Amino acid sequence: MSEELIFHVKPQMAANAHVTVTRLGLMQNHAMNNADAFWLEQARRLDWMRFPTVAGTGGFGGEGGGVQISWFGDGVLNASVNCLDRHLAERGDATALIWQGEREEQSETLSFRQLHERVCRLANVLKRNGVGRGDRVAVYLPMVADGVAAMLACARIGAVHVVMFAGFSSSGVASRIRDSGAKLLITADEGRRGGKTIPLKRMADAALAELGDAAPAVVLVARVTGSDVPMQAGRDHALEPLMADVSAECEPEPMGAEDPLLILYTSGSTGAPKGVLHTTGGYLLWASLTQEIVFDHRPGDVFWCTADLGWVTGHSYVVYGPLANGGATLLFEGTPSYPEPGRWWQVIDRHAVTGFYTAPTAIRALMRDDPAVVERASLRSLRVLGSVGEPINPEAWLWFYDKVGHRSCPVMDSWWQTETGGIMIAPLPGAVAQKPGSATLPLPGVRPLLVNEKGEELKGEAEGHLCIAGSWPGQARTLWGDHPRFEQTYFSTYPGLYFSGDGARRDADGYFWITGRVDDVINVSGHRIGSAEVESAFATHEAVGESAVIGVPDDLKGQSLAAFVVLRKGAGAETQELPAALSRHVGVQLGRYAAPDRVVLVPDLPKTRSGKVMRRILRKIATGEHEALGDVSTLADPGIVEQLVRAMEASA
Ligand code: WTA
Repeated sequence: MSEELIFHVKPQMAANAHVTVTRLGLMQNHAMNNADAFWLEQARRLDWMRFPTVAGTGGFGGEGGGVQISWFGDGVLNASVNCLDRHLAERGDATALIWQGEREEQSETLSFRQLHERVCRLANVLKRNGVGRGDRVAVYLPMVADGVAAMLACARIGAVHVVMFAGFSSSGVASRIRDSGAKLLITADEGRRGGKTIPLKRMADAALAELGDAAPAVVLVARVTGSDVPMQAGRDHALEPLMADVSAECEPEPMGAEDPLLILYTSGSTGAPKGVLHTTGGYLLWASLTQEIVFDHRPGDVFWCTADLGWVTGHSYVVYGPLANGGATLLFEGTPSYPEPGRWWQVIDRHAVTGFYTAPTAIRALMRDDPAVVERASLRSLRVLGSVGEPINPEAWLWFYDKVGHRSCPVMDSWWQTETGGIMIAPLPGAVAQKPGSATLPLPGVRPLLVNEKGEELKGEAEGHLCIAGSWPGQARTLWGDHPRFEQTYFSTYPGLYFSGDGARRDADGYFWITGRVDDVINVSGHRIGSAEVESAFATHEAVGESAVIGVPDDLKGQSLAAFVVLRKGAGAETQELPAALSRHVGVQLGRYAAPDRVVLVPDLPKTRSGKVMRRILRKIATGEHEALGDVSTLADPGIVEQLVRAMEASA
């Protein structure tokens, strides 16, 4: 239906946006015909200590060669200078960061000058504790200003931040600290969420205990709720007094463009989460360029991206993009409907938010409120809306456009990934008409293509696997400590191309419609979860012999997790409570967000003769499409299907 719906660029935007139709054409031509010059010109948006003379070098390998990606290799800069110092002269007193707590009265506004001081002090504290260039610093904080300061403080001294979502369990934190080799951890006493407190320090303590000798020697504890938490003498230090005790100035470290800026762990289809590594110059350029052109950033804008700092969206569009562009960024601690429905709309009105970037799951949840809730809000400050993280269904798009944007704000449905560093496919407010449900067209210099299973490029209207031909500055350079896995994961399926793991369709206008993951990554409420990760978590439960985890369509979350679990022989009686207990167990292992909604105990899994689990069959059974099972003759035991169907029905 929705393909017929087109929302044309507003005349006001068409005339005044950063990227008009004419400019877009020029950018595309330039990027295509003289890529090096185009990217070096884009690099001028950053402040460099030494301006680069080269743009992109290296490549995606292909026949035999390895994957080496480098951008602006001889350039020197500092990311925190680009987000702070360079704005001081002209708008030092302008707002850089608005922190809004769960409750109205908890709010804090920092100017660029104030944030600069906070960052410098924290950077000095890090240095005093032995952190230097190239060292990894783990950050496990709730949505508070110190989270932003921690990231920029690392950037200032050349340390690599490894930010972890506050919803991760202690085991999740431990495995990320172990893999990254972080030598210092920044955490908080507690976090707040939806009227409850999250015992962050206690979780961090459990992670450190699990790490034993591999635990960081120093833990800095920020004060958020002010609760008394146990502090281990010699290891744990309250952050505030240390900050008061150091200089408010800190010389920025000159960093090579290709020096690492950050590691972010993300789920893949196999194994443990991977440490995606982004470097300084290209990543920063991508975050700032895309934030400016996709959201048509203007001086005085207040940008609110609702993502947690622990995900890439929080990195690029809460911190680096808006701040590099000199805009105010809003950090909200709470959930959309606490203490009452409509909380988000109050925040938009109170802080006169101009750009609002959120996820389809949140939009779908908000649509369920009483219509009067959103209608009560003014929302007149909004100019551009954005959606990210999962496919947005046209109904949610239209509601967002109508009820939140009052039919005057374009909706930027933006497709990208942790690995891409920033937005890749999205409309531009002044240049690209939108179709609800489509991420529309690639940004200038981005070359997406569709291939079939054999790796043959599909032209014109087609549906296939989404790949990118050729590098762009924001691209991840490697997986921390495992370059072979980087090459294998992204560049071996279709040699010479970056494979996203997503499927997509291209329509007659060249518009891309992302259909979702084509691998074993499951997207729950915009959170990437690897089936292998959840299966490993099940395996640590004494009753579990084997499991298979799949994603099933969910009206609210996009997808939800369903698990088929085979109990270990002699594991004891199967009780009615066991499925729920197993799900909780996964929640404890990985974090609540990864606890399956449905756990079905089954006698066996559907396997091929070589022992491979046929997830396709599980997906059909889970969605009740028994008639459409397809070919089951390759199953080692075709009789298993009947038993699985019965188990599924019994568990409903
Ligand atoms: C999905 C989040 C459809 C996709 C930025 C991708 C989307 C994964 C969209 C990356 C979109 C992201 N439409 N699907 N606009 N944006 N995705 O790494 O499956 O947390 O591969 O990065 O989210 O998730 P990640």
